[in-house]
Amino acid sequence: MEVVIVPDAKAGGELIAEAVAALLSRKPDALLGVATGSTPLPVYDALAARVRSGALDPSRARICQLDEYVGLPADHPESYRSTVLRQVVEPLGLTESSFMGPDGNAEDVQGACDAYDRALAEAGGVDLQLLGIGTDGHIGFNEPCSSLASRTRIKTLTEQTRQDNARFFDSIDEVPHHVITQGIGTILEARHLVLLATGAGKAEAVARSVEGPVSALVPASALQLHPHATVVVDEAAASEL
Ligand code: GLP
Repeated sequence: MEVVIVPDAKAGGELIAEAVAALLSRKPDALLGVATGSTPLPVYDALAARVRSGALDPSRARICQLDEYVGLPADHPESYRSTVLRQVVEPLGLTESSFMGPDGNAEDVQGACDAYDRALAEAGGVDLQLLGIGTDGHIGFNEPCSSLASRTRIKTLTEQTRQDNARFFDSIDEVPHHVITQGIGTILEARHLVLLATGAGKAEAVARSVEGPVSALVPASALQLHPHATVVVDEAAASEL
């Protein structure tokens, strides 16, 4: 695992956008796994700036989702589908046809999860998966105690994660209790994992993930098992390393 400490979130965004641009110049139709939350926004801003300036042509790139709320209408502004379309797909000038995600409204939720794992494999696998980290060390929505071999499946959010995500909704009562997430085993199949963490609130989770033992109690520690994992942290998030 490579750990890169950058001065601030903007520098982290630039660094990761550079890695994405390098990947797309090598493999224009790469499958990019993207994450939601506030942390990756500087990456998306840096990518969109490159597209606007003509430095990056992502027109053949494909985008896939990491996780999704269960039961939130797909066109709800806070569904992860809507969020990724708004924050990534549209700013990069792509269309929904280059985008894939799990169906959070399927009657057979586990069937939808299995179908998504199959779709990722049939698409050739994820080339670069961008990850954030929860304050409890979760990746995607793999909360502590998730099996390190888990596949895409339905999970129940912890109260902490619902509180963390309540800022995107009018009240915590609107935050769904259930989600679909790529499993840790699914995430580990991506060819390159890039985790970005910024701010002092993530410092403890980063330290436990990077320097602690590999443990299901800290899902992001599974990155230690991956042959090509990059952890990009700003100085605040690195403060407990
Ligand atoms: C949610 C998402 C994660 C994300 C986490 C942290 O739980 N499912 O993918 O990493 O939030 O979000 P933020 O970057 O806003 O702190």
